[in-house]
Amino acid sequence: MKVLGIETSCDETAAAVVADGRTVLSSVVSSQVDLHARYGGVVPEIASRAHTELTLPVVTDALFAAGLDRRGRAVGNPGGPVAIDAVAATMGPGLIGALLVGVSSAKALAMAWGVPYVGVNHLEGHLYSSFLEDPDLELPVVVLLVSGGHTMLIEMDAPGSYRAIGRTRDDAAGEAFDKVARYLGLGYPGGPAIDRLSGFGDPESARFPRAMLEGTHDFSFSGLKTAVVNHVRAHPDVTNEDMAAAFQAAIVDVLVAKTLAAADDVGARGVCLAGGVAANSSLRARIAKACGEAGLGAFPPSRAMCTDNAAMIAAAGYFQLRRSGPTSLDAGAVPDLAF
Ligand code: KG4
Ligand code: ZN
Repeated sequence: MKVLGIETSCDETAAAVVADGRTVLSSVVSSQVDLHARYGGVVPEIASRAHTELTLPVVTDALFAAGLDRRGRAVGNPGGPVAIDAVAATMGPGLIGALLVGVSSAKALAMAWGVPYVGVNHLEGHLYSSFLEDPDLELPVVVLLVSGGHTMLIEMDAPGSYRAIGRTRDDAAGEAFDKVARYLGLGYPGGPAIDRLSGFGDPESARFPRAMLEGTHDFSFSGLKTAVVNHVRAHPDVTNEDMAAAFQAAIVDVLVAKTLAAADDVGARGVCLAGGVAANSSLRARIAKACGEAGLGAFPPSRAMCTDNAAMIAAAGYFQLRRSGPTSLDAGAVPDLAF
């Protein structure tokens, strides 16, 4: 069963074709990051307009890369049947104007092709990224979902069966990277810049707080951000390299320690990473090492699969369709859709 997935919740326009929720036949991502960089963050109106221009070309590219023409028929057999069995789109959470572009496009294609429409929760989508690359992944796992908008620990027993066991009480991990980077004048998005600069700095140059919030699986990062600001004010000569390295060491310490504690607590067999911050080189290395020492499997998806993409939406859509059927065409986009 082939599902076309469409993702437009934030600043990536993406489309993908995935077979049976497991095999990625194509995955195309067009990032708008350059359009937003000079404003220091995503500008919702610019995002919606860019999605409006990009969605159809990106969908067409994804269909072609999967061997289909723009009408969803096998290339070379234009009179043949539609080879897409369902169309899934991110219905929330995200920016309303951005979400509406993907949701409307998916519904229109589903209606034209006479196939089911599936509205997918973006965060649920992120849970499937590790599955797409590690089909032998053994459950249950704990997923550390760390993006620009969310930081969560999720226990997952089976596709479609999961619960959030921890979340941030203030800033998301990606938000902390972005805010510290902005303060240091490193531009947007901040995570990749801090990741890169850290390699040239001394992580011991400052000792920033590690908020472990003992007794819960929740996180808090706003104190860390404030500590960086206070340190730079008190030591104006510090280098960005040292601050990036010391900040990254603190946030990664917390993410790794809390993820391993959660995995131990729920008896997980492995740990998955998801979300943009999962592209962080130190986090990936440290999680792999800690899991190795604890006898747990470590499943960091490729960097392309960590950040927003539509393959994960198509995979989530496939399992959702099997479990609970299609989504009504009357269902809209839900910017604050709960997990
Ligand atoms: O999942 P994502 O692509 O978008 C959503 O927020 O849904 O995540 C974007 C976030 C940004 O905050 C960005 O700074 C962060 O992921 N990020 C990183 C790295 N690459 C992206 N953070 C740390 N290290 C990285 N290498
Ligand atoms: Zn995301």
